[in-house]
Amino acid sequence: MTDAMVGDLVAALGERGVLSEAGDLARYEQGWRYGHGRARCVARPSTTEGVAATLRICSDAGVRVVPQGANTGLVAASTPDQSGAMVVLSLERLNQTIDLDVEDRTVVVDGGVLLSTLNEALAEHGYWFPVDLGADPQIGGMVATNTGGTRLLKYGDVRHNLLGVEVVLADGRVVSQLNRLRKNNTGLDSKQLFVGTAGAFGVVTRAALAVAPKPAQTATALIGCRDGAAVLELLGAVEQGLADFLSAFEVMGAAAMDAVFRHQQAVRRPFDEAPAYGVLVELATTLPAGVVDLDEILVARLGAHMRAAKAGVSDVLLDASDDFWQLRHHVSESLRSDGEMVAFDVSVARSRLPALTERVRAYLCEHHPRVWLCDYGHWGDGGSHLNVLWSRGDVADVAGLKATLQEAVYTMVVREFDGSFSAEHGVGPHNQRFYDAFTDDAVKQLCRSVGSVCDPRGLLGNVQLG
Ligand code: LAC
Ligand code: ZN
Repeated sequence: MTDAMVGDLVAALGERGVLSEAGDLARYEQGWRYGHGRARCVARPSTTEGVAATLRICSDAGVRVVPQGANTGLVAASTPDQSGAMVVLSLERLNQTIDLDVEDRTVVVDGGVLLSTLNEALAEHGYWFPVDLGADPQIGGMVATNTGGTRLLKYGDVRHNLLGVEVVLADGRVVSQLNRLRKNNTGLDSKQLFVGTAGAFGVVTRAALAVAPKPAQTATALIGCRDGAAVLELLGAVEQGLADFLSAFEVMGAAAMDAVFRHQQAVRRPFDEAPAYGVLVELATTLPAGVVDLDEILVARLGAHMRAAKAGVSDVLLDASDDFWQLRHHVSESLRSDGEMVAFDVSVARSRLPALTERVRAYLCEHHPRVWLCDYGHWGDGGSHLNVLWSRGDVADVAGLKATLQEAVYTMVVREFDGSFSAEHGVGPHNQRFYDAFTDDAVKQLCRSVGSVCDPRGLLGNVQLG
């Protein structure tokens, strides 16, 4: 690492394109939940050519680069390591293009465009990009991490809505696969190499996305359930009767809801006392209310289910406002305020979610009496965030406890329940050790081969897939 290299970056990107003062670097060095390192500098190109020039310069100098979008990722993949030697390649200024083809219902968008900005532009035409999250990430980061979110059940993840990408490889070569085709069955779908691989094979500078018509109406209910089995029965009941309309089935444990009520004064408390689980059910359709009344069919279905489920369901609440979504979207940040935490993002077959949750709860009770479980997540997709918290200052060896909990919970999920140790947040330094332990050697070998083409010197990203 030499100052000459930073000088080369300034020559290529201009003064605004490079930050190297400590005060300017701080916000690029700290991840939203995990990841805190030191950057040599931050390169902020505003064009694909600028990204290519950055990567060429770094590659020639043998300098490692970590691509960064809005830095809202949850596995530390977008922050530099502690060495102080890595360049952060921020896409924040590559945010000019939002090229919508209204008839085709597709959009080509720069990697640095925020999801909220894209959705504002699409809303004018009655469309949206329906991958919905609490955070506001950049589109390139969403592709690199294959974001899932709360409406995956109906609309799928980013992969599902991605038509094409433009990427820059580690040595600055630009690979454009920016077609807007919904059907293109011509051999290897090579764009997928850059989806969910956290920038290890290339930097996503543009994406072509299929966008969806915005629903004409939605209906939302919050249902109190006695236990996990009752949640699964409810899922069966709404899918049986309403699968065509079901757009979210989000589950929050009592401890997770209580954390929101403690830390978010503006979020209304819907229950006097939180039930074991609160389930947010959302229906959505492009049909107008005159054709089908979603509120009416949701009330009818839930009423029938409540009578059948008896004590399994304690409350059925309906609300036309955004309150239930406010509650759901504030869980993650409220837990952060509630204590120290190790977060999990796992998935298993949906039918096994109650058993997995009880297995983890029993393990914690027996071995770690100072911690508590705050589980919530996307049960409709088999996903659960089995987050474990403890009061600040209550645990002397925090790093040791985190490592023990991760080892135990991930092993249960993968080995006992045939699940995934990262259902939607992807792979990064936060869970690298478990990627190494649980990933098949043949898959790692394949990744090494791909890496030898895309990033022969191993300079790109902060995750090791091969
Ligand atoms: C959520 C994020 C943390 O579901 O994945 O809130
Ligand atoms: Zn989630």
